[in-house]
Amino acid sequence: MAFAITQTCCNDASCVAVCPVNCIHPTPDEPDFGSTEMLYIDPDSCIDCGACADACPVDAIFPVDALTGPFQAYAEINAEYYTGSDPAAVAQGTSPNFHAWNPPTFTRTIPSDFAPLDVAVVGTGPAGMYAVEDLLLHTNSRVTLIDRLGAPGGLVRYGVAPDHPSTKKIGEVFARFYSHPRLRLRLGVEVGRDVSAEELADRHDAVIYAVGASSARRLGIPGEDLPGSIAATTLVGWYNGHPDVPPDTIDLSAERAVVVGNGNVALDVARILTADPGTLRDTTISPQALAMLESSKVREVVLLGRRGPETAAYTSPELRALTQQGEVDLVVDGSDPRTAQAIDIDTAATPAGKAGLLRGLRRERIDWSAPPPDGRRRIVLRFHSAPVEILGDGQVRGVRVTGAEGAEEVTAGQVVRAIGYRGTPLPGLPFDQDTGTVPHSGGRVRDRQGTYVVGWIKRGPSGGIGANRTCARETVSTLLEDAIAGRLRTPGRRRRGLATLAAPLRGWRR
Ligand code: F3S
Repeated sequence: MAFAITQTCCNDASCVAVCPVNCIHPTPDEPDFGSTEMLYIDPDSCIDCGACADACPVDAIFPVDALTGPFQAYAEINAEYYTGSDPAAVAQGTSPNFHAWNPPTFTRTIPSDFAPLDVAVVGTGPAGMYAVEDLLLHTNSRVTLIDRLGAPGGLVRYGVAPDHPSTKKIGEVFARFYSHPRLRLRLGVEVGRDVSAEELADRHDAVIYAVGASSARRLGIPGEDLPGSIAATTLVGWYNGHPDVPPDTIDLSAERAVVVGNGNVALDVARILTADPGTLRDTTISPQALAMLESSKVREVVLLGRRGPETAAYTSPELRALTQQGEVDLVVDGSDPRTAQAIDIDTAATPAGKAGLLRGLRRERIDWSAPPPDGRRRIVLRFHSAPVEILGDGQVRGVRVTGAEGAEEVTAGQVVRAIGYRGTPLPGLPFDQDTGTVPHSGGRVRDRQGTYVVGWIKRGPSGGIGANRTCARETVSTLLEDAIAGRLRTPGRRRRGLATLAAPLRGWRR
């Protein structure tokens, strides 16, 4: 018997750190770590100690013989990652999976008499919380944790789909730090409105911005701003009860909705819009969103992907889960929009690849001018096609998309743009308009002494929750390096930070 990692793996590698026999890969020091969809356990090396399952923050690890239903496939998926890896090559670091690579080397040597730093962390999402964890557990720093919203959690609270409770569980791990004796939580405080970046820097030895990438990328096509055309960020905020999103922000009165994009967020949106509301009742979904879903007319959600089935943006575990849920039909548009011939899924498909997972699905040539067929709700995957115009007069009535004979029209009452996130400028900080990030080196903001970034505002909107852990380690290490080298801006005013900042800041305190 061995253990296996399953669908909700968050890649934060807590399991890697506790495994006594180094049988979970890729590790943060291996090159695949930044691009892997999940981590895998080598069944031949696993000694069944269970330490990884205890450490996993999202309950993704189980003994193989305890896997049931669709999860049973993960025994093979874990084992497959190691197929062909030669133990001798692994030991020498020449295996394709575990070849030698320059491991990240982050400073951790702090002089024992070093006075505590006062550090402000702006943002309570995963990136900010991994930085907080690092500061509180590995240094004697005092942390002021700030969020512009009235409740902490960032993307864990407002970005993870409510039907993914295991992933949301990582929020409980982060929440343990809210009551840490060296942390002060200040909610409802916005940099640029309640306190300036300059003031924050004046009152702390260092400030770490973990503000994420809160805006949605735009399509740049006509009709994008019509009522009924919204960003996935808005819809995700709607079902998660984000205070900035009005409950009536979405129109569910038409039978078909189109989601532009086919990444994991697009899958989340399609799943929630087609779910039986009864299955969402005991989740964290917003009560107003649930009430609207209960009277929703939507019966079909079309996922429009520019790329083909093998290179679609979603991850295999998320697609696999969608293929295995029983209440909603998953259908592939059977016509290749580039040629009008039958779409070829099988030629390039490997059994475990993304296209391979679509092999057993129904393929159907669809009349996009007609309403969806009667019967069960369904999700339709259309590949090799992009929107060229959102149609409507005062309200969305369809999307013009690329097809074999020029553009064709898909009738729809709601369009959701799920083509990625983008960072927004922060008052008082430099900003790179091309990348939507704050220019930095190792997390140190350019030309702003004592100011750092972490997460999506640092590296752009890619990587899941766990990717922020290594990112935070790098930023905190750069900060400590600067502290030790005397490069922080206010080295003589450490103790003033918390006391003086507390007065002008208002907000909910846990
Ligand atoms: Fe196996 Fe997990 Fe222990 S991978 S060796 S059960 S830490």
